[in-house]
Amino acid sequence: MPRRPRPDVQISRRQALRLGAGVAALGVASACSITRNTESPIGPDSPQARAFAQSKARQFPLGKRVEFDLRARPEDIDLGGVRSTAWLYDGQLPGPILRVDVGDRVRVLFRNRLPDETTVHWHGIAIRNYMDGVPDVTQSPIPAGEEFTYDFIPPDPGTFWYHTHVDLQRGRGLYGALIVDDPRAPENWDAEFVVVLSDWLTSRTPSQVFDHLRSSTMDPMPEMSSPALGGDAGDVNYPMYLLNGRPPVDPATFMARPGQRVLFRIINASDDTAFRVALGGHRLTVTQTDGFPVQPVDTSSILIGMGERYDALVSLQDGVFPLVAAAEGKGAQAFALVRTGAGCPPNPIVAPDELRGRPLTVTDLNADDAVRLPPREPDTTLLAALGGGMNPYIWTINEQAYPEYTPLTVREGQRARLLYTNNTTMYHPMHLHGHTFAIARPDGSGPRKDTVIVLPGQTVAADIEADNPGQWITHCHNDYHLAAGMATIFSYVS
Ligand code: C2O
Ligand code: CU
Repeated sequence: MPRRPRPDVQISRRQALRLGAGVAALGVASACSITRNTESPIGPDSPQARAFAQSKARQFPLGKRVEFDLRARPEDIDLGGVRSTAWLYDGQLPGPILRVDVGDRVRVLFRNRLPDETTVHWHGIAIRNYMDGVPDVTQSPIPAGEEFTYDFIPPDPGTFWYHTHVDLQRGRGLYGALIVDDPRAPENWDAEFVVVLSDWLTSRTPSQVFDHLRSSTMDPMPEMSSPALGGDAGDVNYPMYLLNGRPPVDPATFMARPGQRVLFRIINASDDTAFRVALGGHRLTVTQTDGFPVQPVDTSSILIGMGERYDALVSLQDGVFPLVAAAEGKGAQAFALVRTGAGCPPNPIVAPDELRGRPLTVTDLNADDAVRLPPREPDTTLLAALGGGMNPYIWTINEQAYPEYTPLTVREGQRARLLYTNNTTMYHPMHLHGHTFAIARPDGSGPRKDTVIVLPGQTVAADIEADNPGQWITHCHNDYHLAAGMATIFSYVS
């Protein structure tokens, strides 16, 4: 079985210049009584550092052109002793971090070595429509064994990600981070960690789970507890929740020094799980969501739905701390360690105090002035009524299950207001392709988002500047809900 590269720790642009200085080797106390102490510290020779250096070396000066090769293929992996077959980008779980500068011409030569057709979607990027990677909407799926070159210019810096957009492939492992830097913006942090959260099936494929959901008349989650914000956060209890592709028994370790200010870029890549994220012993200062800056706000925990991203700055204490992502309403968690000094690692099932209380959500955020969408009366108001349920397992928008749909139409230059109204008892993290909307507020303070949790019974109004013509899918980022129909098309007409 090939040894899997271990994507524990990533480094910032600036830190790369002083590699070796920032990652002091720290002794790990051997007396620690954890069953499996498999912390793997990083250094300049880590796979991450090498991959980063290589990807940057291939870039022309002035951010003109960046090229990546990306290959999807089935691979056997071992997660803390549990073996399964995954579908991976470049043999890594999650896929490699693709890191570019804003305005770069990015070309990704993608090779499909899966036994199935696929596409790659660049989540959150205001991309040109025909590079958006949505099967049968923006491109024909790439057949097994064939190639496709994605070619795009990311117009906004921030934390984005990429994933397959075909059927239920994502939960097999086809996702990774896409970080867009702004070389002109000062980085006011010392180190940076990309945190990819996911839910993981060990003995079934997502398609098998989907078939079960569709055929079963039983409650698929009899042991579920109710999430704090009401309703159900997910439909499936998973055997494992992963943080950077690693289970709690074999956690990633983020190494830094006490007093350092570090940036966590947190991405929820899971199929069916909202996470509540906290770092034991620390407060988090949220600075961005979905790649767009917000007025910084302090919190002890963040609720992050599927497809969402949150960036948070933390000033680190001295010691070893649990980074916990509690699977909302599922009684289990993803886990990693943040180590700045000596000490025994906390138990992987630890529940830090920071998880208590109401987590930060979109309602606590205000857009940074630089990215506010100036308030304007909408030219058109569009309704996406979210419906459906578990029995039968069908999820709809405006009473239709995709691929059946009636497009929501808009003209270029219009300001559209899209109302996502949740008539169900479940969370739906709703995502719009090709645009970063603003949460509608009379004073224009709403944060910019491309994915937003719509709670049961709630309506979220998204203001959209219609400046990117094409046919754009909008859908629930719960992959089972998408597969069961919760999608429609936001369609530019002339
Ligand atoms: Cu993150 Cu339509 O996807
Ligand atoms: Cu949903």
